[in-house]
Amino acid sequence: MLKDTSDGFGAISRLLHWLLALAIFVLFALGYWMVTLGYTSPYYTNAPAWHEAVGMVVLIAMTLRLGWRLSNTNPTSDHLTRFEHGAARMMHGALYAIIFAVLISGYLISTADGRSIELFWGLQVPSLYQAQGIESISGKIHRILSYVTIALAGLHTGAALKHHFIDRDPTLTRMWRGSRPKS
Ligand code: HEM
Ligand code: HEM
Repeated sequence: MLKDTSDGFGAISRLLHWLLALAIFVLFALGYWMVTLGYTSPYYTNAPAWHEAVGMVVLIAMTLRLGWRLSNTNPTSDHLTRFEHGAARMMHGALYAIIFAVLISGYLISTADGRSIELFWGLQVPSLYQAQGIESISGKIHRILSYVTIALAGLHTGAALKHHFIDRDPTLTRMWRGSRPKS
């Protein structure tokens, strides 16, 4: 099943969730490492170029994911209490909002001087906005919110594992295997 149903996530949502979770952890580690590199490192220009290109692919994929989510049936949450349901909605909304802020601030740092970002297939993402001081403000926002993203993702992961191993409810299985076919 490609689409989401009332009792689970379809293949597209599951694939996007896991690929994007991986990509976001990789981007965080790459960003954290690349800002420590000196001029003499062989990765001094390549590492940021990869960080920017992968980041732009993640921006496109997150936009597709949000569109897919808004146009699909949402799985029901009968196994959750009202509090858990509210907390999960808030957490997912916060993750979407903060990840978009990290991606857009990254784009603004990289394009503040008017240069485009090169993607892998020779495609270029042009600079759309330049203003005095934008690079430094975006840099601060990018750094702080990328740390907030990883902290929230840690809480989110902890909650998913608690549902699986302690509550033994279908929260994690329906994001991993999807809904079971009805017999
Ligand atoms: C969710 C996606 C992303 C994460 C988690 C992330 C994470 C990070 C981290 C942890 C740093 C190091 C910050 C520091 O300590 O100063 C960083 C730096 C940077 N990121 Fe990202 N990033 C993401 C997306 C992007 C995107 C889409 C772009 C551009 C297209 C980008 C461009 C940059 C640049 C240019 C720097 C260097 C900033 C500086 O020199 O201070 N990032 N990123
Ligand atoms: C950077 C890492 C991650 C991010 C940004 C992230 C983000 C999200 C978002 C935004 C949703 C809401 C999906 C939607 O309704 O559209 C979601 C759902 C979910 N995530 Fe993650 N996730 C991450 C990592 C993980 C990990 C490591 C696990 C498990 C160990 C996990 C388990 C789940 C589960 C089970 C759901 C479905 C919850 C439900 O039934 O509503 N996620 N995730």
